[in-house]
Amino acid sequence: MANKLDRRTFLRNTSLAGAAVVTPDIARSAIRNPKSAIRKDKLRLGFIGTGLRGQSHVELALLRDDCEVAAIADPEPRMVADTLKMIADKGKLRPDVYDKGNYDYQRLLQDKNIDAVVVATPWEWHTQQCVAAMQAGKYVATEVCGGFSLDECWQLVNTHEATGTHLMFLENVCYRRDVMAVLQMVREGLFGELIHLEGGYQHDLRGVKFNDGATPYDSGVEFGERGWSEAKWRTKHSVHRNGDLYPTHGIGPVAMMTNINRGNRFLYLTSTASKARGLHDYIVNHPKGGPGHPNAKVLFNLGDVVTTIIKTSNGETILLSHDTDLPRPYSLGFRVQGTKGIWMDVNKSLLLEGKTKTHAWENAQTWLDQYDHPLWKKYGADAKAAGHGGMDFFVFHHFVECAKRNIAPQMDVYDAATWLAITPLSEASIATGSSPQAFPDFTRGRWTERKPDFAFGEGF
Ligand SMILES: NC(=O)c1ccc[n+]([C@@H]2O[C@H](COP(=O)([O-])OP(=O)(O)OC[C@H]3O[C@@H](n4cnc5c(N)ncnc54)[C@H](O)[C@@H]3O)[C@@H](O)[C@H]2O)c1
Repeated sequence: MANKLDRRTFLRNTSLAGAAVVTPDIARSAIRNPKSAIRKDKLRLGFIGTGLRGQSHVELALLRDDCEVAAIADPEPRMVADTLKMIADKGKLRPDVYDKGNYDYQRLLQDKNIDAVVVATPWEWHTQQCVAAMQAGKYVATEVCGGFSLDECWQLVNTHEATGTHLMFLENVCYRRDVMAVLQMVREGLFGELIHLEGGYQHDLRGVKFNDGATPYDSGVEFGERGWSEAKWRTKHSVHRNGDLYPTHGIGPVAMMTNINRGNRFLYLTSTASKARGLHDYIVNHPKGGPGHPNAKVLFNLGDVVTTIIKTSNGETILLSHDTDLPRPYSLGFRVQGTKGIWMDVNKSLLLEGKTKTHAWENAQTWLDQYDHPLWKKYGADAKAAGHGGMDFFVFHHFVECAKRNIAPQMDVYDAATWLAITPLSEASIATGSSPQAFPDFTRGRWTERKPDFAFGEGF
């Protein structure tokens, strides 16, 4: 983004940037006193992208009295029809529909009556849609992805600071029940001083990357124009790119535990990619594919397992895995290890020195129950119907409650930029023989003063 500012723009931006500095404090107090500070009892929401993920957000909004699904924007007739049916089935009013191509979301943004928008489009659209939405003064919630360039990450930060409009990054895994219990345990010092953490995206996506739309998962070997849902757009990233393309489910929880952008920051990373075999193998061996299928000729660039190590300014190491193209069970592979103990999610076990048996794993569940987060105790029943084991309820709830108060969310634009940056840095590292890549400081030094604020207490 061009950094040439005239004096008037500079003055406006610096005063708004000042506002951005103080809003986290206002946010903290509003979250602790949730009845205070509501500016809007009911939000009129616009949904940009109503594919599978967008529809799950629409569904959550339809369950709430404080949300109206006022408008949807999506160029794909089948997705629009499915969304309208879902809304009609709930007996709600038909929203305004913006379905005239890829840029029709811009008309949605012109509607002064829309308070906030949810962006759930293919990755390559997120930044321009978030930037346009912030410029239009809408409170923005954006789905997760990996970034394309550091410049794009700066665009998000610069637009937030220039407009004063908030952006929340919808990293739902930060609200996973076991992850939140472990966060409580970290904060109470049960693991001692943190030394090493792990996380990642280890999810066999072959049935998502290849899908002709006959069934929602695992149908065929088509992608691109002949693909459906994510197969339409996600798979091409595996053809053209090599890096950790989807880092935030792994890094979000770990970043909250290590107070990144709040007294700690990522310094640099190195990434290494394995060879790429899984996607080709899948096409060749699939009943609808075979060695003669045209897609068997496609060369995939993305290494089947990409391993990234991040070093933080407080001295921790963080290992991230991206592993989506081989047969494997789902696991985000969390590990939290400090001077007094360790938790791993893959074996659902922990060791706490002096509290559990020496040199032995103990089933973590009793501890996770004991440290169950107040938010889960309060909203566990409401969350039951929501996707991904309930965590989707919490991330959407936080967005709605922050947007009603127009306060900074706890996963803010600085977190978004920092986490998104992992992808271009990882690509650059792999392209240069795993060389270290430095993280920009998107907070412009404010990480030294910003205070941890994620999920303290039972507010929202
Ligand atoms: N947090 C999670 O657990 C989770 C789960 C699934 C997907 N996601 C993320 O959600 C996002 C969407 O994924 P999805 O699975 O819904 O994909 P999808 O392909 O099912 O849906 C994307 C939708 O965006 C629409 N779209 C494309 N270009 C558009 C444009 N210019 N304007 C408006 N709409 C446009 C498409 O027509 C499609 O309906 C991605 O970022 C994905 O990574 C997150």
